[in-house]
Amino acid sequence: MRTVDQLAAELGGFEGKRVLVRSDLNVPQDGGLITDVGRIRASVPTLSDLRGRGARVVVMAHLGRPRGERDAAFSLQPVGKRLSELLGAEVVTAADTVGASARAAVEAMSDGDVVLLENVRFNAGETSNDDAERGAFADQLASLGDAFVSDGFGVVHRKQASVYDVAQRLAHAAGGLVLTEIEVLQRLTESPERPYVVVLGGSKVSDKLGVIDNLLTKADKLLIGGGMVFTFLKAQGYEVGRSLLEEDQLGPVRGYLEQAAAAGVEIVLPTDVVVAPAFDAEDAASVVAVDGIPADQLGLDIGPESGAAFAAALRDAKTVFWNGPMGVFERPAFAAGTRAVAEALTRIDGLSVVGGGDSAAAVRQLGFADDRFGHISTGGGASLEYLEGKILPGIDILKD
Ligand code: 3PG
Repeated sequence: MRTVDQLAAELGGFEGKRVLVRSDLNVPQDGGLITDVGRIRASVPTLSDLRGRGARVVVMAHLGRPRGERDAAFSLQPVGKRLSELLGAEVVTAADTVGASARAAVEAMSDGDVVLLENVRFNAGETSNDDAERGAFADQLASLGDAFVSDGFGVVHRKQASVYDVAQRLAHAAGGLVLTEIEVLQRLTESPERPYVVVLGGSKVSDKLGVIDNLLTKADKLLIGGGMVFTFLKAQGYEVGRSLLEEDQLGPVRGYLEQAAAAGVEIVLPTDVVVAPAFDAEDAASVVAVDGIPADQLGLDIGPESGAAFAAALRDAKTVFWNGPMGVFERPAFAAGTRAVAEALTRIDGLSVVGGGDSAAAVRQLGFADDRFGHISTGGGASLEYLEGKILPGIDILKD
């Protein structure tokens, strides 16, 4: 993969050149307010670097899943504002992606300027499975640039026009963020320092099947919490009340438990959980042992005994990968389990990696500074797919 330095050398410098950059600016929002700027902040170094070298920086990004149509709720305008603040430079956010507004904004650029195109997913071609439709949109995007830098690690698992097809049309390089993310994930997959402990949470087992499959043979311990743990508890014979349960995953989960036992991998499950009659019934929350989950309540966090046990299981780890919160961390009554794991990670004497998405948002929302962890990935699905051993199209296409 070419670096930005190599691309600069190939182009004879970036002055006067329009450089299309794919960033992942897909940030969580609540009522129109951005709740975690992590991804925007992570995209700044590459953009600053390119501006500093005299490039005219044209940023492509998506927000949410607007299904190929313009939808004001997914406009990048607010993101453009935050990007401008974090970059310390004006960012002109175009009113469309490849239309008159975008073309005029790019046309008017001087060296060092930054234009953010409107949400690429407002265009059906971006996510189309049809190569020709995607290619036609990629042609339009590519016409706005002289070169392409892929820096949106969070989307490199998507074969989409602004991630994949544009790289086939322009001289390209991997941005610093993509290179750093890959370097860290490589350390997790190629001879990680042991003990290697993986913590998985989040709501669905079905989202994590591939990664569990792959890590069962690589990790020394697997700690499981979050909504997905109730399928594990049920598979062990516990009643889980109204907790999240994926009946169709009971078979695979039983298989994992057997496989882990045979391979000598320790699977640590909670021994107590925080339950409540409903998500919003925080006042009625209580702690129960896993063999005492009331039939009319649902588990919304791991309990304090489990939080301490998870922290103890992490104490001697030299390598840790964590993906998925332990509970509904957005609500204080159900945040203690996620906080206990986050705190334990900050004490790791080795490499601690927080896999993006919800876990990254969780640690920040709970008040932990980024630099207390070895690495906070900007990729949720992308880092999981990397760890599953899958080929990521947006990385693969940069290799020529
Ligand atoms: C993410 O949030 O993981 C990335 O931005 C990719 O978004 P997507 O899952 O909607 O493709």
